[in-house]
Amino acid sequence: MNGNKYGRWLGISGFGESHGRAVGVLLEDIKPGILFPLSEIEHELERRRPGRHKYSSQRNESDRIQILSGVIEGKTTGMPICLVVYNEDQRSGDYESLREIFRPGHADWSWFQKFKILDWRGGGRASGRETIARVAAGAVVKELIAPAKVEAYPVQIGKVKAGEFQPGFTNQLFWHDPSTYDAVLNELMETKAAGDSVGGILEVDISGLQAGLGDPVFGKLDARLAEALLSIGGVKGIEFGAGFKLAGFHGSQSNDQMNADGFISNNSGGILGGVSTGSVVKLRLVIKPTSSISMKQETIDISGKEQEITINGRHDTCLLFRIIPVVEAMIRLVLADCLSYQKLVTGENRNLNDMREALDRIDEDILLALKRRSEIVKLIGEYKFLNGIRVKDEGREKQLLTNLEEKAQLWEINQGLVRNIWRELLSESCRLQEGKEYGNIKSDPRE
Ligand SMILES: Cc1cc2nc3c(=O)[nH]c(=O)nc-3n(C[C@H](O)[C@H](O)[C@H](O)COP(=O)(O)O)c2cc1C
Repeated sequence: MNGNKYGRWLGISGFGESHGRAVGVLLEDIKPGILFPLSEIEHELERRRPGRHKYSSQRNESDRIQILSGVIEGKTTGMPICLVVYNEDQRSGDYESLREIFRPGHADWSWFQKFKILDWRGGGRASGRETIARVAAGAVVKELIAPAKVEAYPVQIGKVKAGEFQPGFTNQLFWHDPSTYDAVLNELMETKAAGDSVGGILEVDISGLQAGLGDPVFGKLDARLAEALLSIGGVKGIEFGAGFKLAGFHGSQSNDQMNADGFISNNSGGILGGVSTGSVVKLRLVIKPTSSISMKQETIDISGKEQEITINGRHDTCLLFRIIPVVEAMIRLVLADCLSYQKLVTGENRNLNDMREALDRIDEDILLALKRRSEIVKLIGEYKFLNGIRVKDEGREKQLLTNLEEKAQLWEINQGLVRNIWRELLSESCRLQEGKEYGNIKSDPRE
């Protein structure tokens, strides 16, 4: 399932469930001979670990990383790197009473509609435990994105908004404003005492980022960041720069004018036309309140029967603190992926290996597209058969070939090559659709 993979130029696959044996990540395409940043990974996993303060889940996991492959004597070998963290403190018993009950706010109901099976043990792969893979992978690419730095910090918890930032004000909640710190603690304490949870807003600065990252038109940097960040459980919205405030601005206020020193303001959040400007990339994320709460809620079970539910597992009062290292990791992965590609675009560090690697990727994409094409062709074959439609449609074929030849000319691709590939595809389609059995009925190979 492609949904467990990340990256166009970096190959990252995550695996594992909350209450399974382990969660982990497989990293491919990391160059050989690089110092493997084990202590960096350990540091980042420690930041994500549950049980670090009393508003975090009290699940007692050491989250110790184990390297299964791809590293020798502290250096990468160029082979796939497999990292795992074994689950130690999974108490599936906490979830036993919820075996067949859909927990409000969780992925239970929607995933059950999709997969027709419910991993009732702490949400399975929908659990935040899956993010260990992202954090570990994000630490591995930290060096690759230097000198760019990513920092996420909370600016709102519940109704409490941070005021002036005071550099050097450190605390377990990463809250930068001493004047509202007590109010935040209060909000968390009261919420926890009520058996409830609370949401918040995270702000992120990406500094030291070169201009020119991001690709027209579907690979825009803001679009790629949004996709990566919204893939984190509990992240529900994103804005860049002045964001939703732009609705109330006039163009004369929102445009980032320039002088000889550069941009005078940064309402765009460091990205214009999907490409980084060299200014700090600023974005904000809204994080929903933790779904698991110990207050009574209404729901239904697998048979559709109404149920009352109280969730007794160990959960975060506010997810936001646990999500910080995950957000930073995902941004690093996006940047590393964009940078790998950028080096090819600009010719920077261009070498035969990089160019061959790029070509191999494209060939792989073509194979995947062919696989998808065959699947659709078979579906069409079945449809045609069931509806008594002939396999061959000469009129459509002729029209299609003309369209493709026109496109080939426009894009300056060898027309003969396009024609030959298309003819091969067409005869493969016919082969896949003719003489097939659908149920107990066989299609007519002469069609
Ligand atoms: C690091 C991390 C930890 C999480 N911990 C919890 C938790 O303890 N309890 C909970 O209800 N949700 C937790 N979540 C959020 C759920 O995974 C998420 O809300 C759920 O899968 C539904 O997805 P959605 O909110 O994106 O729709 C956590 C998410 C992350 C990223």
